Amino acid sequence: MSSIETFDLRPGRILNKKYEVISLLGAGWEGEVYKVKELSTGIERAAKFFFHEKNPKNKQAKWYAKKLHKLRSCSILIHYQTQEEILVRKRPVTYLISEYVEGELLIDFLKTRKGKRLTTFEGLHLLYALSKGIEKIHLLKEYHGDLHSENIIVTKFGLGFKLKLLDMYKWDLASRHNIEDDVCNLIRIFYDSIGGTKRYSKHPKAVKEICCGLKKSLIVKKFKTAGHLRRYLEIMHLD
Ligand SMILES: Nc1ncnc2c1ncn2[C@@H]1O[C@H](COP(=O)(O)OP(=O)(O)O)[C@@H](O)[C@H]1O
Ligand SMILES: [Mg+2]
Repeated sequence: MSSIETFDLRPGRILNKKYEVISLLGAGWEGEVYKVKELSTGIERAAKFFFHEKNPKNKQAKWYAKKLHKLRSCSILIHYQTQEEILVRKRPVTYLISEYVEGELLIDFLKTRKGKRLTTFEGLHLLYALSKGIEKIHLLKEYHGDLHSENIIVTKFGLGFKLKLLDMYKWDLASRHNIEDDVCNLIRIFYDSIGGTKRYSKHPKAVKEICCGLKKSLIVKKFKTAGHLRRYLEIMHLD
């Protein structure tokens, strides 16, 4: 059977007599996410539909739901609610219902900024908000596994950033390596958000001391977890 590239769920379609499809929110490697309305309450939710080949025996959806549940005290992660199944072109498809997050993907938010990047100071605030949120995941000896600008929603930009993270990934490595990879990905997001390679030389020394030229061995020697990075940012000097 050929693989499904889009579920193409039309607005107005009723799912399991419980939800009404409102619109497509986004798509990624693993599936498609739609905004839906819970019929009994009118509350908007997000429904993530998994592509068959990315979800054999429903393993990936189950793993993701359980992980979100285990990490429900980490407020940077979306809140998982329930799992359902529908038939799409005669094939069963699992979807997970979670809270609907209003905001803008980091990748799109950056495009709206002057020069399509953040100032150094804004970038440090972004890194701080991410580190503080992910610190709680690392304290539980867990990792995110898929940190990039399309899995981060900026819900508020003011004195600081308010963020939500989507979409975790299960790697087969021991979690210490995954935690270190999370830290490297955080620093990569920071580096890219302040203009990437093109602007790197123009940034103050303090930025280079965080980015370590993006060398993984140097980064993990300095910051073993997001908590280390958060503490470092709280006492750093910027001049
Ligand atoms: N809870 C949510 N609230 C709002 N938008 C969401 C939500 N979950 C996902 N999205 C949107 O859907 C896209 C794909 O979701 P994601 O879980 O990252 O799927 P994939 O694993 O396929 O990348 C995201 O980049 C985002 O734009
Ligand atoms: Mg994604």
